Amino acid sequence: MEQLAEQPASGSRADFLPLNGTDYVEFFVGNAKQAAYYYRAAFGMQLIAYRGPETGTRDRASYVLQQGKIRFVLTTPLYPDSAIAEHIKLHGDGVREIALGVDDSEGAYQETTRRGARGVLEPTLFEDSHGQVRISAIAAYGDTIHGFIERKNYRGAFLPGFQAVEAPDSIARPVGLKYIDHMVGNVGWGQMNAWVGFYRDILGFQLYQHFDDKDISTEYSALMSKVMSDGSGRVKFPINEPAVGKKKSQIEEYLEYYHGPGVQHIAMATDDIIGTVSKLRAQGIEFLRVPTTYYDDLEKRCGKIDEPMNQLAELGILVDRDDEGYMLQIFTKPVEDRPTLFFEVIQRKGSRSFGKGNFKALFEAIEREQALRGNL
Ligand code: FE2
Repeated sequence: MEQLAEQPASGSRADFLPLNGTDYVEFFVGNAKQAAYYYRAAFGMQLIAYRGPETGTRDRASYVLQQGKIRFVLTTPLYPDSAIAEHIKLHGDGVREIALGVDDSEGAYQETTRRGARGVLEPTLFEDSHGQVRISAIAAYGDTIHGFIERKNYRGAFLPGFQAVEAPDSIARPVGLKYIDHMVGNVGWGQMNAWVGFYRDILGFQLYQHFDDKDISTEYSALMSKVMSDGSGRVKFPINEPAVGKKKSQIEEYLEYYHGPGVQHIAMATDDIIGTVSKLRAQGIEFLRVPTTYYDDLEKRCGKIDEPMNQLAELGILVDRDDEGYMLQIFTKPVEDRPTLFFEVIQRKGSRSFGKGNFKALFEAIEREQALRGNL
């Protein structure tokens, strides 16, 4: 795999926009009350804040869930004539916003729009008795947006207008998820390089690693992918586009059901993948399975690893090694009825890569699921 972290992607490079990592991920969903129960009981997230009619917000209800540094906001509209309802009608449940932490929301907005970003929310001050937050936002791929959240003058539970949930969450069953490792976007045919250019020129990201369709294809489910990373390396956005294969690419299936580009998967890190995946399975999360033959020559491919092979095989956890170490990963099935967003659980043990060695086994597993849906 090509390591390009030290070089600009091509041509001149915009300065890094200083980011303080991912602040939150907001999902627009058809029924946030029920979705919140799923993310709490199955994924183990804790309800920390809420806003809705009871707190003075008339047009929507939002549940803020947290585990480790991972923060999800689940929002549902209360009326049909709203942009949120339109988003759900078109895309089904999905990610609307990847919010990035910044020290200067106004500066981030001015700089990115000067560099060509389309503004979605001009810098706006929100305040309550806990302090002030400045928020602005720009458009990314599809209907996805990036918010710039400046919260250095805020001490509340989440954002102004939200009410903290003080009581311990008796529904949440934490599984040891720590932080978001990466979030992957699917874009349309031939659009990958344009979006790589967006992250390079607008946000000053660099190309982190590069795959092409020779790397990532089975007989059918071809795709191309480039990983963009911010200056700190904490925010990583791989961008996928479909590639020509014998039958329909898994990215094409996503684009058809999501009706356009959007977030394909969110990878969440743990430092005990066996414990985390065991709990997730017991709590009802369904994972993709690779054939048991995957484990037959795993040690030959990946060398000695700390985890017991029989437990990895039993749970279906995949392993990949590169020059720097190894990593363990597993993918859920889509978490909506539409085959769109899914999750990855990842544990890094030195490796900074994305599991290229697993693509073949994994994509064959994805294709079996695609075939079951009649979409191959
Ligand atoms: Fe991933």
